[in-house]
Amino acid sequence: KPLVFSGVQPTGNLHLGNYLGAIRKFVALQENNDCIYCVVDLHSLTATLVHPDLADQTRSITAAFLAAGIDPKKHIVFNQARVSQHAELAWIFNCVARIGWMNRMTQFKDKAGKDRENASLGLLAYPSLMAADILLYRATHVPVGEDQKQHLELTRDIAQKFNNDFSSRIADLGIGVEMQVGEETVNGFFPLTEPLIGGPAARIMSLRDGSKKMSKSDPSDLSRINLTDDADTISKKIRKAKTDPAGLPSELDGLAGRPEAENLVGIYAGLADITKEEVLRQFAGQQFSVFKPALADLAVDKLAPIAGEMRRLMADPAYIDSVLRDGGQRAGALAERTMKSVREIIGLLGD
Ligand code: TYM
Repeated sequence: KPLVFSGVQPTGNLHLGNYLGAIRKFVALQENNDCIYCVVDLHSLTATLVHPDLADQTRSITAAFLAAGIDPKKHIVFNQARVSQHAELAWIFNCVARIGWMNRMTQFKDKAGKDRENASLGLLAYPSLMAADILLYRATHVPVGEDQKQHLELTRDIAQKFNNDFSSRIADLGIGVEMQVGEETVNGFFPLTEPLIGGPAARIMSLRDGSKKMSKSDPSDLSRINLTDDADTISKKIRKAKTDPAGLPSELDGLAGRPEAENLVGIYAGLADITKEEVLRQFAGQQFSVFKPALADLAVDKLAPIAGEMRRLMADPAYIDSVLRDGGQRAGALAERTMKSVREIIGLLGD
């Protein structure tokens, strides 16, 4: 049975990339799947250990989930730290994964920068914790933006190595499921999770530089649209967004080599839930002086209600905490079921 899992870090403001690349997909997937959405507070310690406002940031991401339309009664919304099995399984995966796998992660290389010796050990092991998040629930599908693709490939590698290293134990205990690995059918405990990446908004770029992704950590606030920006700020940022002097082409290949133009078309498509081709059909031959105001109106239209609802929810932190507590209890029960099997497979004595 399909199970959807995804997570968002409580660091900095959520932006349009997080919304279009991830959260909006979380909302759509609720219709036909069981979903678990997690605020990954433990992950946020890997880059900076001391976050004076971690608790409020955690509540704010939760508020964004709810404001965007995630239903915490039908699905599970919780924060990672509440379910200690995430850290427990991550430890085991630290012993499954190889240092070389971690060293190859582009996000680690980017975030650690030149002074790698001084990065936290947690930053190196980050993908292990991410694999634990997903596999603790034996999730089959993970909606994320393009930047998480390599981490999901690593999650499959970890699942596969675990299944392989413990194949006879898994078979003896009779707790495996049949799965297809290439040509072979194998009996594994952890599924090989499928990433759900795609659509026009899988990689939203900075509004100031079409070669950099839109990110929480960009020093320029003009580079991103935050979910909490007001209408005037959204319009101003789109008006100031970098473009080129040409107008909009009628075909997709007319955007080749024009990353800023392509990005704005992608944002429009994401917000309107149509394809980039359809956007171009609508705006072919128009100048940015026409397209930008239309994009600003659309963005305000889609984002203002979310910002308003987030503000309303943030005024009642006790309610948000109760959602996380309830979600944590339900997630914890599922997590413990998996961990019981994992301890048994490995031979760790439990109760
Ligand atoms: P995080 O918190 O950096 O980002 C949350 C989600 O937003 C997506 N995203 C983008 N999508 C399109 N364009 C962009 N410019 C853009 N920027 C961010 C991210 O791809 C992500 O889906 N490692 C994860 C959190 C995580 C996780 C997990 C995700 C921890 N455990 C388990 C899935 C499953 C991260 O740092 O996301």
